[in-house]
Parts: sequence; C-alpha cells; structure tokens
Amino acid sequence: MRAVTWRGVNEIGVEDVAEPSILNGHDIIVEVGLSATCGSDLHLVGGYVPAMRAGDVLGHEFMGRVVDVGRDVTRHQTGDRVVVVSFTSCGRCWYCTQGLFSLCDNGNPNPAITEALWGQAIGGCYGYSHALGGWAGSHARYIRVPYADQGAFTIPEGVSDQRALFASDAAPTGWTGAHLAGVQHGDVVAVWGAGGVGQMAARAAMLMGAERVVVIDRLENRLEQVRTHIGAETLDYERIDVAAELRERTGGRGPDVCIEAVGMEAHGSGPSHLYDQVKQQLRLQTDRPTALREAIYACRKGGSVFTLGVFAGLVDKFPLGAVMNKGLTLRGAQQHGHRYIPEILDHMSRDEVRTEHLATHVMSIEDGPRGYQMFTEKEDGCVRAVFAPGA
Ligand SMILES: NC(=O)c1ccc[n+]([C@@H]2O[C@H](COP(=O)([O-])OP(=O)(O)OC[C@H]3O[C@@H](n4cnc5c(N)ncnc54)[C@H](O)[C@@H]3O)[C@@H](O)[C@H]2O)c1
Ligand SMILES: [Zn+2]
Ligand SMILES: [Zn+2]
Repeated sequence: MRAVTWRGVNEIGVEDVAEPSILNGHDIIVEVGLSATCGSDLHLVGGYVPAMRAGDVLGHEFMGRVVDVGRDVTRHQTGDRVVVVSFTSCGRCWYCTQGLFSLCDNGNPNPAITEALWGQAIGGCYGYSHALGGWAGSHARYIRVPYADQGAFTIPEGVSDQRALFASDAAPTGWTGAHLAGVQHGDVVAVWGAGGVGQMAARAAMLMGAERVVVIDRLENRLEQVRTHIGAETLDYERIDVAAELRERTGGRGPDVCIEAVGMEAHGSGPSHLYDQVKQQLRLQTDRPTALREAIYACRKGGSVFTLGVFAGLVDKFPLGAVMNKGLTLRGAQQHGHRYIPEILDHMSRDEVRTEHLATHVMSIEDGPRGYQMFTEKEDGCVRAVFAPGA
C-alpha cells in the first residue's frame, strides 16, 4: 500500500509499505478514511524529535472503518466507523487506571529512549518516532490499532467524517489542557496558538464555563476561524502588546488560566528570538519557549499555566522566578484522549463542537509532500492538510 513517510529532515516521501495485519488478539485493522497533519508532525519533520528512521509512516490523527478484528476485541466489529485516539494505551496499567492515558506503561515498546531523555518513559503514539513506540502512522490505506477496545471509539451517526476526525487528537488535546489547567466557571482563559489544538482548547474552556476566552496568534485566517467557529475573542500579537491587552481585558489582573498551544518552534521577533533560534540550531537548547515565557509573564498571580505545545528537552531563559514568586501552577501533558473522546463525540453530535473548518486542504496520499509543504509554510491558509487514502 502507498504511504506518506519521513525520509529525512525536511524530506517527506510517498512509498510502498507492507499492509498491516492482526498481531495480537486485542488489535483491529482500520481502513483509514481521513488522516490529518498535526503541529506535532512539524517537530518530526524539522528534526527536533529524535529517533525517526527513513521510511517511517507518518500520521496520528485519523478515523476510518474497521476491516479486521482480533479475537479478544469485544467493542468493535467489521464495518464500524471509528475514530482512534493518537496514543496507544493499554487501559489497564496504573497510569491508565488514573486516567493518565498518555503516560501508559505498556503503550511504548521502546521505553529506553524517553527514559534516558526524561527519567521515565511515557506512552506510545502512532507515527511519532521510535522514542514513542515506533508504531506505523495513519497516512496510509490501512493501520493496525493495538488495544482497540480502549483506543477506538464508534462515531455516532450524524457526526461527519470530517468532524469526527479531530476527536482523535486536536480536540482531546484541547480538553486535556482546559481540564487539567483547572478551568472554572467565570474564569478568563488565554490561549496562545490558533492552530487545531489552540482552537480546541479554547472551545473546551468555553464549554467548561469560562466567562471569557482570548486566543492569540498572528495568522489572520486562523483568528477569523476562532471568531467564527469557536466563538472566542482574538488578539494579533504582531499588532498589540499582548500582556498589556490581557491586563486591560481582565480589570488589570491577568488571565486566570493561560494555555500554551504553540510548542518548541514558536515564532517570535527581536534579539531574544534570534538568540533562541541560533541556540536551538546549534543544539545548545532543544526548544524555543517564546509563547510559554509570554504566558508565564501574562498570567495573573496564583494562576495556572498549561503547556499543550510539545517540548522535547531543555530551554534557556526560563522565567522560574515568575513561576515561583507569582505562585503559579505550571503543568503540561500529552493528551489523555481516552478520557475525553466520548464526551467530545457527544458535543459533536449536539453541534456544540465544530471542527470541519480545520480540514482546509483534503488530498490524496500521493500529495503527501505537497500537503506537508502547505501545512509547514501555512500556504493558502492551510490549517490542517488531510489525506483521504481511499480517494
Ligand atoms: N499535548 C498533546 O498531546 C499535543 C497533541 C497535538 C499537538 N500538540 C502540540 O500542540 C502545538 C500546536 O499544535 P497545532 O496542531 O495547533 O499546530 P499548528 O502549527 O497548526 O499551530 C500553531 C500555531 O501557533 C502560532 N504561533 C507561533 N508562534 C506563536 C507565538 N509566539 N505566540 C502565539 N502563537 C504563535 C502559529 O502561528 C500557529 O497558528 C504543537 O506544539 C503540537 O506539537 C500537542
Ligand atoms: Zn498531534
Ligand atoms: Zn496503560
């Protein structure tokens, strides 16, 4: 079968790979209907996440139809239309039973790499390097889904493929951030980044009762999507002083919750950005925390800062003094989607969560390199390139 693969830093290929088959009784095989690019893929493509190998199939946000079922699977049958969470979690280990699914002890068959990086291994994710398990990704006709009773969710009738697709990764990531950051009724929430993840974090915060949600970016087409489809306020950080404007909108106090949905390749300007970029390219630091720093400075005293944006290792000029002296709570996580997807699908059925607009460019697998180019460069207003392998 044809698949979109990683060939090297900034090199995307389309090639023939072996079709998957059931290897374990808990597996299903899904015929991929739609598979989206995600901001996390950019960190792989750019060479910021280690342990990719030439020929690895990319893609972790997907939906499709079940075409084969292992003998121990109880919740799925051939023909079911499913959305699959991007993390491969067992549902049974200590972490899974605490609802911390992306920290699963069994979802990553190569724990040594992240153990060396972070002290302890985290779970696995499709198409996300050998550090996160080496699982084949979803930009292909078929994909093997392990722990299928835990990770695959039947899509309610009436929820379109294009809407359900984003219940795989972008939406549950937004829910993870808003929930674990502790969004409460009446809060003011600021979100950095108006990509799929930032938009979904904003929507989650609104549904969790936030009184005011402000999304920050510089790309007008994305800010426009936020106003139209999410219903949140927006700020263009190239036009105004974000911290001052956020104070202005919060009676001088600053947002109660600040969610960072940008990650290690943040855009910025001025000498500090240049300094960060040079250090990152020389591998003297692995990540550029521009938006995270801004979130920490902008947050109200005693507030909560959450990073959904992916960071791989070490950062420089981290404002620990502000975190400590302002009494901030700082958290981050990869998404624990297993916990939120049923609720998200319900919201989607009731038209309370809309995501179709994120799929700005739908194309065939053969267009893999073009899709990644458009998504990376944000060409033609691309928010997500989506591959339809059957098209
Ligand atoms: N925690 C998780 O489980 C999880 C899951 C999916 C994605 N992610 C991560 O979330 C982040 C966002 O993902 P995405 O798919 O929305 O990516 P994306 O690339 O589509 O969007 C990122 C947005 O951030 C904006 N941005 C860049 N610099 C900024 C700055 N300084 N201030 C404000 N906005 C800025 C960009 O213009 C862009 O619109 C990525 O780091 C991705 O790896 C995490
Ligand atoms: Zn992702
Ligand atoms: Zn587990």
